[in-house]
Amino acid sequence: MSDLSHVRVEWDGDIAVVVIDRQEKLNALNADVVREIGEVFADLRNDDQVRGVILTGAGDKAFVAGADIGELAQMDSISGVETSRAGQDVFLAIERFPKPVLAAVGGYALGGGCELALACHLRIAAEDARFGLPEVGLGIIPGYGGTIRLARLVGLGKAVELTLTGDMIKAPDALTAGLVSAVVPREELMDQAKAFMRRITKNGPVAVRLALESIFRAMDSTMGDSLDYESSLFGLLASTDDMKEGMAAFLEKRKPDFEGR
Ligand code: COA
Repeated sequence: MSDLSHVRVEWDGDIAVVVIDRQEKLNALNADVVREIGEVFADLRNDDQVRGVILTGAGDKAFVAGADIGELAQMDSISGVETSRAGQDVFLAIERFPKPVLAAVGGYALGGGCELALACHLRIAAEDARFGLPEVGLGIIPGYGGTIRLARLVGLGKAVELTLTGDMIKAPDALTAGLVSAVVPREELMDQAKAFMRRITKNGPVAVRLALESIFRAMDSTMGDSLDYESSLFGLLASTDDMKEGMAAFLEKRKPDFEGR
């Protein structure tokens, strides 16, 4: 991994906390930040110690206030496509990350920041969180997967409304819309994110991984193909030590001790 200027990784046991830190621009995503996020996730992907990733923004104002508008203002048609594809690739790598990725959102999650949260498997919000896709007000559209993922998450009607109005919604409305799983006090955001992640990491690691794979692969496949794939993964899990341990622990009335194989 090359030197990182705006992204860092902090650890809490087997949970990696990826922090985007460009506070003077409310953590806006310029090309370097997008590249660094991609590098960090590529690195974490090869790290067997990682059981889950929490993605968050530094400072108290923003998760990420969007793609960097100063940079976007310079683009032409060709570089516009390239910018969009570069972001899409990194965000897809997050969605396909084999361990759970949770966005801990405090403050603004706008434009590319909202799209980044959408690319994570789960989201929790602080009470001060604000979500929105204001791109149409800038004469562009969301270009990092937001026109696709928002509709998948909250349904077509709400996604069209939010995308075409560019309105920001507050955390309680994001909860009602199904955009986030929980709203927590700001000062508890990181502790609650870790507690949420531990509700996942206490489970069989291989099962968690394959559940993610089945769910997200189904987004790109037919029902028939998805069911076939689910059956294969289900069968595959029967060959794991984790399955033997999980079921033995239940029958012996004790907590399982999973080894992730
Ligand atoms: N791109 C580039 N710079 C951004 C940015 C973005 N998406 N969002 C914020 N910034 C910069 C501001 O230009 C400002 O920089 P400066 O101090 O050098 O002038 C700094 O971050 C602080 O932002 P500021 O606007 O002063 O904070 P605020 O509290 O008054 O307003 C927002 C906060 C989020 C409402 C406002 O910054 C905003 O609307 N940002 C753009 C959101 C957006 O449209 N995102 C989608 C982009 S596709």
